[in-house]
Amino acid sequence: MNKSEKRNASSYCNYNDTFVSYDQNRQPNGLRELLHIFEETRVPFEEQVILEGGFGTGAYIDQVRHPMKEVYGVEGSEQGYEETKQKVGDAENVHLQIGNILDLSFSDDFFHAYMVNQVLHHLDTEPSYPNLTLFLKESRRVIKPGGVLTINTSTHEQLNPHSGVYWNYKYIEKAALAMQPRYIPVPELISRLGELGFTDIKTTIPSGKLFQEQYYRDPKVALDTDFQKADSIYCFCSEKQINEANRLIRSSIDDGSVHQHMEQAAKQAEKIGEAVIVSARKPL
Ligand SMILES: C[S@@+](CC[C@H](N)C(=O)[O-])C[C@H]1O[C@@H](n2cnc3c(N)ncnc32)[C@H](O)[C@@H]1O
Repeated sequence: MNKSEKRNASSYCNYNDTFVSYDQNRQPNGLRELLHIFEETRVPFEEQVILEGGFGTGAYIDQVRHPMKEVYGVEGSEQGYEETKQKVGDAENVHLQIGNILDLSFSDDFFHAYMVNQVLHHLDTEPSYPNLTLFLKESRRVIKPGGVLTINTSTHEQLNPHSGVYWNYKYIEKAALAMQPRYIPVPELISRLGELGFTDIKTTIPSGKLFQEQYYRDPKVALDTDFQKADSIYCFCSEKQINEANRLIRSSIDDGSVHQHMEQAAKQAEKIGEAVIVSARKPL
C-alpha cells in the first residue's frame, strides 16, 4: 500500500504525505502552557489519564507521557499512527489507536484532560462548523467532571497573510484566505463551549513557536518541498500557485524585502503569539 492509500481524516489534506517531513519542520508549540493547564486540575500528574485527539506524529504525546500516568491517543492518519508508535517505542503507559475524534470508543468520564493541537480546522468544510459541535459533545462525554479540554488553534489575526505571524503566507495569499474560514473565530468557539455546558473558559497565548528555528531565519526554507508538505496550507495551493509563490519569494530574497517582511511577522508574533490555547472545564 502506498502512503496516499493509507487511512486519513483531514477534510482537505492527505496527512500520510504531509507527515514524511513534519518533525523536521514543526515543534510542539504550547507544551509548557498545556502542562500548566493540566496541573490546574489539581490531580497530580502521576494520577492523570489524558487523551490527545489528532496526535499527528506524536510530538506532544512523546513529551507528556513522561509525567502522566496514562496517555491515550486517537489519530485519523495511519502514517501518523505508525510514526508515533515508533517514537514512543514500548512505553507501557501510551495507548494509541487509529480512529475519528468525532466518535470516540472510550466510556463516559474517562479522562482528566483532553487536548487537541492544531486539529480543529480539519474537521469542517461548512461555515456552521457542525463537526466542531460533534467534537465538543464527544469531548464533554469522555472528560471526567472537573476535567479539562484544551484546544490549541490559531486566530484569524495570526493567520492573516499580510499582517499575521506566518511570514510565508503573504506569498500564498489565496491559500491563506481559503484556509482562514476553516478556523472558527475564537469568540465563536468560546460561545459554543459555553452553550455546550463547559465552564472556566480561558484563552492562553503560548510563548513558543510552531516551526523549527530555520523557518524564522532562512527564507529559502519556504521553497523547500519538504517544508511545504509540513504545513497543510499548501494543500490549498495548485502547482501553478506554488510555482508563482516560489518565484515571488526568490525575487524578494534578491531585493531583500523578504527580510523586512519576516521581521514584521516576528514582531507581530511577539505581540499576539503564533497560536492560542482555549481551555474549558466540564463542570463537577
Ligand atoms: C496539523 S495536524 C496536527 C498534528 C499534531 N496534533 C501536532 O500538532 O503536531 C492535524 C491532525 O489532525 C488529524 N485529524 C484531523 N481530523 C481528525 C479526526 N476527525 N479524527 C482524528 N484525527 C484527525 C490529522 O490526521 C492530523 O494528524
